Amino acid sequence: MNKDKEVKKRILTGDRPTGPLHIGHYAGSLANRVRLQDEYDCFFIIADYQILTDHLKETEQTEPFIKQVLLDWLSIGLDPQKSTFFIQSQIPEIAELTMYFSMMVTLARLQRNPTVKEEFKASRLPAMSYGFLGYPISQAADILIVRSDLVPVGEDQLAHVEQTREIARTFNGIFREVFPVPEALVGEVSRLPGLDGQKMGKSRDNAIYLKDNPGEVRQKVNTAITDPARIKATDKGHPHICNIYKYHCAFNGEEAPEIENRCRQGKIGCVVCKKKAAEKVNAFLDPIREKRVFFEARPSIIKEALREGYEKTLKESRETMNLVREAMHFSYRDLLEGEKIVAG
Ligand code: TRP
Repeated sequence: MNKDKEVKKRILTGDRPTGPLHIGHYAGSLANRVRLQDEYDCFFIIADYQILTDHLKETEQTEPFIKQVLLDWLSIGLDPQKSTFFIQSQIPEIAELTMYFSMMVTLARLQRNPTVKEEFKASRLPAMSYGFLGYPISQAADILIVRSDLVPVGEDQLAHVEQTREIARTFNGIFREVFPVPEALVGEVSRLPGLDGQKMGKSRDNAIYLKDNPGEVRQKVNTAITDPARIKATDKGHPHICNIYKYHCAFNGEEAPEIENRCRQGKIGCVVCKKKAAEKVNAFLDPIREKRVFFEARPSIIKEALREGYEKTLKESRETMNLVREAMHFSYRDLLEGEKIVAG
């Protein structure tokens, strides 16, 4: 069993604790993780440093948000018996690796990162901090601290994985082959739009959360924007520009082709179509809600997962940092005594 684990390829991915996760996260990334955790040695990170980029003044929210994310993970079936859960700021080695990596990335390269640009725009901050601009470097350290081979993410994170690959190659080229060059894995249904057709997100108030109750889901789906050209139920629709049709594809795969046809012919109205979609989303969420209630009543499961995850990640991270310092000639064997070098 243990031996098996050693040969498994490694995965790292995770979430920022900015609040509960939504069905867009599920379609873009979480569903993929559940499938992958049997086959791979998975590390799931709660990226709390990253919330400092745009939520610096709301850090009192971090702990309850971390708890929400952990409950989301457990309820959709991420399993701490199979996978490793940890909190970014608990592993100081990540900050240390970020420091080294920051010397290997140019300012111009960071300024070109499209995800950083988009997120800065969305944040409405008056100016960008050094940490905001540099957070892709810290994300590279998240991935490479456990020497991950694969990074399952939504499309918006591809720019960061690309930067991580460049950093790994640069480090390996200057010093020695310490890091794998990790590959991104994008989910099948990679982008599920919000209720208004924009990217689903908390700040846009257009998301259906995994923890929403059935009434909330019905009410939210009801307000969704469909095909704007359709006024009467008998008007011919254009499902491919309709947000609700995309929900059918994600959560009602079997009926989606029929709904598509009927919509095109004006044989199903938006009200009925939305009702069906809400039912399917609710049917999908029901077992998740049940599991959430179970885990909410058992906080010791979360604590145990975090303790074990911390220990395993720390061990891996220390090994990586020993390799890094060794490769960079920062071990100072002539000056320091053995133990101190390796203790980190
Ligand atoms: N930036 C990611 C997000 O906003 C979260 C994240 C942090 C991450 N570190 C990571 C994702 C490492 C993949 C790998 O969703």
